[in-house]
Amino acid sequence: MSWTRTVIVAVIAAAVVGTVVGLVVWAVMRETSTTEPPELRELDWWEHTVIYQIYPRSFKDSDGDGIGDLKGIISELEHLVDAGVGALWMSPIFKSPMYDFGYDISDFYDIQEEYGTMADFNELVEKAHALGLKVLLDYVPNHASTYSEYFKKSENREPGYEDYFVWADPVRVNGVNQEPSNWISQFGGSVWEFSEKRQQYYLHQFAIEQADFNFREQAVKDEMIKIMLFWIERGADGFRVDAIPHLFETAPDANGVYPDEPLSGNMFLRPDQAGYTTQIHTRDLIELYDVVYDWREAVDNWAKNNGSETKVLLAEAYANISMTMLYYGDEKGRIGAHFPFNFDFITTLSAESSARDFAYVIRHWFTYMPQGQVPNWVFGNHDQSRMPSRFRSNMVDGLNGLNMLLPGVAITYQGEEIGMKDGFVSWEDTVDVAALNQGNSSNYLEFSRDPCRTPYHWDNSTNAGFSTAPKTWLPVAEDYIEINLQAQKDASVSHYKVYQALTRLRKEKTLSHGAFDVQALSLNTLLLVRHLRTHDTYALLFNVGSVSDTVSLSNVDLLSEPLTVYISSVHSTRTPGSTISSSSITLLPGEALVLRAPPT
Ligand code: GLC
Ligand code: MG
Ligand code: CA
Repeated sequence: MSWTRTVIVAVIAAAVVGTVVGLVVWAVMRETSTTEPPELRELDWWEHTVIYQIYPRSFKDSDGDGIGDLKGIISELEHLVDAGVGALWMSPIFKSPMYDFGYDISDFYDIQEEYGTMADFNELVEKAHALGLKVLLDYVPNHASTYSEYFKKSENREPGYEDYFVWADPVRVNGVNQEPSNWISQFGGSVWEFSEKRQQYYLHQFAIEQADFNFREQAVKDEMIKIMLFWIERGADGFRVDAIPHLFETAPDANGVYPDEPLSGNMFLRPDQAGYTTQIHTRDLIELYDVVYDWREAVDNWAKNNGSETKVLLAEAYANISMTMLYYGDEKGRIGAHFPFNFDFITTLSAESSARDFAYVIRHWFTYMPQGQVPNWVFGNHDQSRMPSRFRSNMVDGLNGLNMLLPGVAITYQGEEIGMKDGFVSWEDTVDVAALNQGNSSNYLEFSRDPCRTPYHWDNSTNAGFSTAPKTWLPVAEDYIEINLQAQKDASVSHYKVYQALTRLRKEKTLSHGAFDVQALSLNTLLLVRHLRTHDTYALLFNVGSVSDTVSLSNVDLLSEPLTVYISSVHSTRTPGSTISSSSITLLPGEALVLRAPPT
């Protein structure tokens, strides 16, 4: 057993629940006391990397059409190196009619023209690899565009394609055709759409133009693996796998009847909104895990047969904790994704959360994660309100600090490194199908994912340096004059400078291999300690509240004096290099400090 694993096991075994709920002290137990540094397991490339999510449409436009593209990404790869990240993941860049901005793929084997060509893709991979960056693609197995050849052939009942999608006959009630069941799409409205051509309904869990593949069909499963290997052969280092909980739906009974879902009883939802029914027939079906385990086998085999580095699979799954953890693998020893995304910071925490909520949510993941697996942390993505908008602007450095100091993989959504907030997108400028489906209603913004997708802020020039076009595909957020990369590079203190310091600090063995302890020192102040014998200890002290807070570190065993401020959040009055006394520390609202302490 590796040292890290020994520690994790020991840490869990030695978790001592303190007298106060929320004050859990993790003790690092290992036959200690020699001064020899511990023998450290060599980590695989992905186990402690920082993954940077690029939303290609909004990152950088090279040809002035108002839409980000591959050449734009290529021209800014150095930015990712400068920021200190290890891998990039691009949201879909494949051929698509763009009803769901690339998540509706019409050709899984080609690049969307407005993004570039296969040659551009090759150049991107080559340059990224030369810079030491891994390249992850978005893999969308649940559905294809209704403009895809697969769908056209299936609609025409071409041999071999008849059952590629989920087709169902109408239900006849009093001589009238009705939808096969009451299932509701994630974007609102029925999952069933009638095809005049085939005189049947097809199922779509997302937009009408995104038809769900039929994963009970072997040809579909084979094709999806073929697609995955096609991109691996072209240099992809792995995939973020889209929308997996929706892979399967309950099959019809012997008479072809689909069961209705019971109503959820959620009174805040209209009958055409996702969640109005319980989704027991449309989410988390147990059959899906075998498909994920097969994918893992396919990529592992490819890597083995080609003597290549590990190709990773990262599962996008908004699911309960048990169903989430099953993506790592099952009791029978089958393994799946390298990790399922940990969305807890998005789904469970908010500006109102206390330090105890933070500590609880962090431990929650570790409590359920199977032994020996790698955790990960997500603070935002292209589907969710941006991190400083969900929390508070003064929490940016503390949240990035948590992301970087917690064990495992850190995931950054483009713009988090400079504290970008949601942009305002008027109804007239709205393009997201999830919002459009609500109609011009007062609440379209509750559903719209446009605000978190507005273009990246490079500098304070026109369109924030994103594009020279007179009009960009989504408006640039107004605050780009204050919040932009160039300004933050020029400033002596900025979110970006803090981010860089954090990614640099991650290279320390304490962070890649050390044990961790997280606790609430008070209602609002969180303490995260990373500890590795014979190495310096690092701690993040973070006031997540909206009032000043005074805490003491005197009772924290792992932190011995002298305590040096190593990194401080932008509005902190403490400068890196200064020492602080552990007995009484007052933190401003949102203030975060990374402290360094000598080895214990
Ligand atoms: C995932 C994507 C989202 C997309 C959906 C359907 O949740 O992140 O953007 O709309 O899947 O592909
Ligand atoms: Mg362009
Ligand atoms: Ca499906």
